[in-house]
Amino acid sequence: MVAYKSKVVERITLPSKERRTQALEAAGYNAFNLPADDVFIDLLTDSGTGAMSDDQWAALLQGDEAYAGSSSFDRLESAVADVMGFERVVPAHQGRGAENVLYGSLLSEGDVALNNTHFDTTRAHVSNQGADPVDCPVPGAHDPATNEPFKGDFSIERARDVVDEVGADRVPLVILTITNNSTAGQPVSVENTRRVRAFADEIDATFVIDACRFAENAYFVTRREDEFEDATVAEVAREQLGLADALVMSGKKDGLANVGGFVATDDEALFEQCKQRAILYEGFPTYGGMAGRDVAAMAVGLREAVEESYIEDRVEQVRELGAMLEEAGIPVYTPTGGHAVYLDAGATFPEIPAEQFPGQALVCELYREGGVRGVELGSFAFPETDRPELVRLAIPRRTYHREHFEHVVETAEAVLENRHEVSGLEIVSNPAVPELRHFSASLEPVSAETATAVDADSD
Ligand code: F0G
Repeated sequence: MVAYKSKVVERITLPSKERRTQALEAAGYNAFNLPADDVFIDLLTDSGTGAMSDDQWAALLQGDEAYAGSSSFDRLESAVADVMGFERVVPAHQGRGAENVLYGSLLSEGDVALNNTHFDTTRAHVSNQGADPVDCPVPGAHDPATNEPFKGDFSIERARDVVDEVGADRVPLVILTITNNSTAGQPVSVENTRRVRAFADEIDATFVIDACRFAENAYFVTRREDEFEDATVAEVAREQLGLADALVMSGKKDGLANVGGFVATDDEALFEQCKQRAILYEGFPTYGGMAGRDVAAMAVGLREAVEESYIEDRVEQVRELGAMLEEAGIPVYTPTGGHAVYLDAGATFPEIPAEQFPGQALVCELYREGGVRGVELGSFAFPETDRPELVRLAIPRRTYHREHFEHVVETAEAVLENRHEVSGLEIVSNPAVPELRHFSASLEPVSAETATAVDADSD
């Protein structure tokens, strides 16, 4: 059931196909380099791109810009306590700022951090501390075709193997990312979260939940985990988050805000450490790199995120796009995740080898064909891993409607129809930080000779 109506609108236009083709070339075949004005339906990310509610806009006007002791921070503290169950909050300008504050406080050179799957900024922040990020997805997590309810879960068995290999002393941190963004936005069960808590206790590690999409995860739990079938999303969220020692949060997702983030904990010593580090990198700990008004809007957004009518509409809208694409014969990862539909580019372009980035080719064709912008999460974004070639279509919150989705489906159908004319891509310039190359590398279509050489190699 739809849970809102429009009060302010933004005009969008579909540029001509000629313009789109030029824009793609000028962007070096990297969708991050496209000007947003040249994009018709922007599904690059659900991060900070949603529509705020009128209550959030009202909160903006009441924002308290005091450098220290801002009353907007009091609103945030009480929202975090009520919605997430933690008493101590260290604000940061966005999720990765919070990651720097928290992981900089918990990790040292030579440590190992375990995560169901590290998101790219998380991986980069762990590495930046000289530590080693190790993923522990459950078997089948990267299989686009199975229909398990909690493909985002953390594999305790895999984690035990790592601990046996490196020794518990080297593993001070266990992270659980809910939902699991790098595994197609799949949820994590409360049962799995309890097991991760027990495992962290066993090896004496700090247990952190990356709570970016905690409300979407809680919605799935109410629908898929028997124990919680009569619980509210708000109850599940508190139950699940309460198992952690600390949370790291990007307010740009389930904070329903355009910017912001924070660390939350009840551990006084960790809180103090984070506060000191936040002063260095983010700002005084009652604003943390945000304007007071943005702190206030995020406080309101956190409460809205666990309202049943909002969250049901949100997750079911994503499911609906997935179902529409599947019905049209477009290969998609199943089941559909919480914030995005992930297209299976490997199945769409079976002739394009991984080293020519079938996912990135699909991103480019969706844009060229219909002005739709998605993001590659396959061999371009994650080199040297054996992940499927996925393209994420992330849905901004409270922003698009069925007609937009119909355009997306028609676009994908047209790409699928012309799939034999699509060539792979090669990288022509690479940035300095390898974990982040997909944000700024430039590519070009492979020349006919390269394509033939690869064909011959694979024969
Ligand atoms: N953790 C997860 C699981 C994320 O998905 C993100 C951001 C972050 C941390 C970092 O938060 O952007 O506020 O600094 N994900 C965005 C995305 C960028 O498109 O999935 P941030």
